[in-house]
Amino acid sequence: MLPKDEQDRLIREGRNFMKGYREDDPYRETFESDQTLKRPQPPLCKAPMRGEDQRIKLPMEFDKLHMTDNLLSLLQKRKSHRIYTEQPISLLQLSFLLWASQGIKGRRGRAYATLRTVPSGGARHSYETYLVIRQVEGLKPGVYHYLPEENALELLHTDDDLTQKAVDSLAGQKWAGRASVVFYWAMDAYRAEWRYGIYSHRVALIDAGHIGENLTLAAEALGLGSCGIAAIYHELCCQLLEIDGENEFAVYAMPVGTIAPEDAAAEQDIYRFVKEQNL
Ligand SMILES: Cc1cc2nc3c(=O)[nH]c(=O)nc-3n(C[C@H](O)[C@H](O)[C@H](O)COP(=O)(O)O)c2cc1C
Repeated sequence: MLPKDEQDRLIREGRNFMKGYREDDPYRETFESDQTLKRPQPPLCKAPMRGEDQRIKLPMEFDKLHMTDNLLSLLQKRKSHRIYTEQPISLLQLSFLLWASQGIKGRRGRAYATLRTVPSGGARHSYETYLVIRQVEGLKPGVYHYLPEENALELLHTDDDLTQKAVDSLAGQKWAGRASVVFYWAMDAYRAEWRYGIYSHRVALIDAGHIGENLTLAAEALGLGSCGIAAIYHELCCQLLEIDGENEFAVYAMPVGTIAPEDAAAEQDIYRFVKEQNL
């Protein structure tokens, strides 16, 4: 068991990590970022990982999508969904989900920053999006990487054991293996560190929250269900997504799937322990 002193120290460390700039921070006065030191800025997006023959252009005619709800009703309806009916979603729906969570709408300066559908501290936008696709019309099941500058996906690999590997990477959460698609967001760390150095990581976690919420609301607007997942296994995500785990590492995931109203009671049943244990 972790000794109490050690636990207390680690808790303090975690709390300090979450706090804003502190007067008792020994590095605050002396820290200089690579941006301040005029070191070259890293690319705004990760370069494609495969050749053009593996690239799939995404449709962008979002006005064709059926989205009736206004923001008020979306916020009222929003909840985590973990029971999926395993129907395929369309490529246009997937494209909208990608755009809503990480799509590029413009640039700041010549190549200083991308401007996206989500905000990001210092407009660093340091996340890459990877997908485990199980059921999307027109796409073969596999692991894909999103190229937001081109509105395209690239196929990284297919795998006969895809669903099980996705579930394993999500700490064994079996329900996620019935999603049509699982989104993974990996931090390409230097993109934020170039500007914020040792102060990047807290900001990046806040960025991840925005991305997740945009995806959840976009899914809700399409009548799909989603659920945030922080419980992920680092090494298994690295293997699945083909990322190095040091410069780029998965932080957050979100399965999205088709849902049915008749499953609402069973969804609530997930929390029956609250009543049983009188919590
Ligand atoms: C950052 C974050 C991480 C989460 N991780 C998990 C997870 O690993 N497994 C899970 O079943 N639910 C996870 N959830 C879902 C929460 O349990 C859920 O949001 C919470 O119970 C409130 O329910 P609601 O979203 O339906 O309002 C996560 C949610 C967030 C925002």
